[in-house]
Amino acid sequence: MNRPLIHWTFRVMFIFILLSFYSPRAMAQEADIAIKPPLGWNTWYGYLCKVTDSDVRAQADMMVANGMKAVGYEYVNIDDCWQGQRDSEGVIHSNSNFPDMKALGDYIHSKGLKFGVYSSPGPKTCAGYEGSYGHEDQDAKTYAGWGVDFLKYDWCSAADVYKPSEMETAYKKMGDALRQSGRPILYSLCEYGLQRVWLWGPSVGANMWRTTGDLDYKYDRFSLVGFEQNGLERFAGPGHWNDPDMLLVGLGKITDDESRTQVSLWSLLAAPLIASADLRKVSAASLAILSNPEVIAVDQDPAGIQGRRISEEGPLDIWMKPLADGSKAVGLFNRGEDAEPITVYFKDVGVGESAAVRDLWAAKDLGTFKDSFTATVPRNGVVMLRMK
Ligand code: GLA
Repeated sequence: MNRPLIHWTFRVMFIFILLSFYSPRAMAQEADIAIKPPLGWNTWYGYLCKVTDSDVRAQADMMVANGMKAVGYEYVNIDDCWQGQRDSEGVIHSNSNFPDMKALGDYIHSKGLKFGVYSSPGPKTCAGYEGSYGHEDQDAKTYAGWGVDFLKYDWCSAADVYKPSEMETAYKKMGDALRQSGRPILYSLCEYGLQRVWLWGPSVGANMWRTTGDLDYKYDRFSLVGFEQNGLERFAGPGHWNDPDMLLVGLGKITDDESRTQVSLWSLLAAPLIASADLRKVSAASLAILSNPEVIAVDQDPAGIQGRRISEEGPLDIWMKPLADGSKAVGLFNRGEDAEPITVYFKDVGVGESAAVRDLWAAKDLGTFKDSFTATVPRNGVVMLRMK
């Protein structure tokens, strides 16, 4: 071999060796987490701050007993209000409602589930508990020691110590700390969609980010938020998802039609499905809505494509999500006051002239249709279809 050739061979080998040290390692960790939108349960809407270790264990038990685990629900997340004080070394401890976080994590893991906690980049959480400001690395290590698998990181009082333009840096601090914690921990940002988080979320290590403020306990609020998500689809994908906040199924005065609207829309959005009602109290109908395997399969579709609006006529809204097997999930939503027929045209869906149509909530094949399909949709309700 002549000299220049030997030189070049060495150079190329050197570059390969460098690459194999850096990118695959970093990517392996990112790639393993939240490949599909996370499914789970969170304490906040059901309990607010009145939550204890035994409540969380009971919810984990329920998630196994009621079949939610079997359809994919996995994370059991404690939201705000578990924190106690820091000790003289600065190590965070839980408060008396959570006597032993490691034991709680072990319990959740023993059920085949994953364990989530909550903190803030600011000095205090939104409910006034201890935040992680100035203790990011230490807290990430503490969480890893407890066996934590998921961190929700909520802006709250960070607004007092950082400028809005420093938000990305503040979130990156914890993102880096989690990466160096020695444990894969899903990183969930909660900053209500400020600073166009979808543009920089992945670069701070986020696996999901809230795109909106809180949902309250009302259809009017979650439908307003949910139907506003159109346009964010290009920022979601395996490992990093838009999060329009939790499922309200089983909470407040939300009806079954309204619950189906939320679960259908969130699934079309490939959003995380995080239930929040007390699972010991939800009705059989709410449980069935949370656990419908065909609708969850739309959310969890391996292509990981967030759906989008394909038609809007007054209160009648049609959304479509392309699926990995070439079929399309379609939601016909009626945001009006009375039941209405809604027609979806196949040219808008992109399924060719005729399509086989399945109703996912009814678990029924409806037959093959030409050019369009029409269904009557109840007030505040949805007909959710799969078309091929
Ligand atoms: C904020 C978040 C909520 C919840 C509370 C807890 O409002 O948006 O999801 O975490 O804080 O205090």
